[in-house]
Amino acid sequence: MEKKTMDWGNLSFGYTPADYRYVSNYVGGKWDEGFLSDQPNITISESACVLHYAQTCFEGLKAYSTEDGRIICFRPDLNGKRMADSCRRMKMPVFPEERFLEAVDKTVRANAAWVPPYGSGASLYLRPLMIGTTPVLGVKPASEFQFRLFASPVGPYFKGDARALTLRVSDLDRAAPRGTGHIKAGLNYAMSLYNIVDAHDHGFDENVYLDPATRTYIEETGGANILFVTPEGKLVTPASGSILPSITRRSLLEVAKTYLGMEVAERPVALEEIGSFAECGLCGTAAVISPVGKIVDHDREFTFEGNGPWIQKLYTTLRGIQQGRIPAPSGWIREIC
Ligand code: PLP
Ligand code: COI
Repeated sequence: MEKKTMDWGNLSFGYTPADYRYVSNYVGGKWDEGFLSDQPNITISESACVLHYAQTCFEGLKAYSTEDGRIICFRPDLNGKRMADSCRRMKMPVFPEERFLEAVDKTVRANAAWVPPYGSGASLYLRPLMIGTTPVLGVKPASEFQFRLFASPVGPYFKGDARALTLRVSDLDRAAPRGTGHIKAGLNYAMSLYNIVDAHDHGFDENVYLDPATRTYIEETGGANILFVTPEGKLVTPASGSILPSITRRSLLEVAKTYLGMEVAERPVALEEIGSFAECGLCGTAAVISPVGKIVDHDREFTFEGNGPWIQKLYTTLRGIQQGRIPAPSGWIREIC
């Protein structure tokens, strides 16, 4: 199969629609059998629940080319499970996990020409989403929904790639206590839009959010979880009920322990202790692992070793597993074609 002609090595993280997307509609209390569509646009009522009351959730995962020409995905089952959790919390019908995996397989196979070549540094980003389409006026959930999974080739999420990021501690909150911070609901990102523009306007790459109840503990950033490494080489990541359970972070904790022999801890991390860490990074599907050089809290600055040795080792090992270069733990890699 011939690849599309693109400047793969210089892609940014943006929307370049691949030819096909998978679509299934929920009507009359059940999901239809689904199909591949070449239509990137959706026509819905002006009163659709998603447009007014934000009844929507989404996921993000990537397909990679391996050195020997296969196409693989990294732990898509966990995206299917997390989407099911998001749907339950948003009063949306769960798209069954096996159907989710079938949608991933079909979309990637149909768009194989769009999966960036091995070694290009790019990947095919998959964006599953669900929206409530029924017209509503009073506040209530929709009764009809669309599940859709589209694909777009992407490069690094943060511009400048290897440059260490500068973050600021946000004065605004992203998620409320007992709210929706732990699911991948569009509304969480709506909450962060003002703040990310403001952060960029002030020269920062991202916002670090604190726990909304006490504003004492580090939570995560607008689009990635955060991790720290102590000077002794121990990996520490925040535990909290209002952060997104990142699949990358959960995988990194295992990689750190079993591949790199690191001690790991998932526990509340106080803002007041971050000065004691040697390295810091952001992790996520889009962010992969992006090194952090500095976190600014008003007139205080906490600095970290930019691309430090542990962050580098974690990055290289995870990338190796995701691209099929390093043997993965059982069940982590789904071979698509
Ligand atoms: N936190 C937020 C707010 C995110 O949007 C993402 C991206 O999906 C993550 C963390 C990282 O999660 P994952 O590693 O599952 O992509
Ligand atoms: C992802 O990493 O897949 C996300 O959804 C994060 C988003 C901010 C791009």
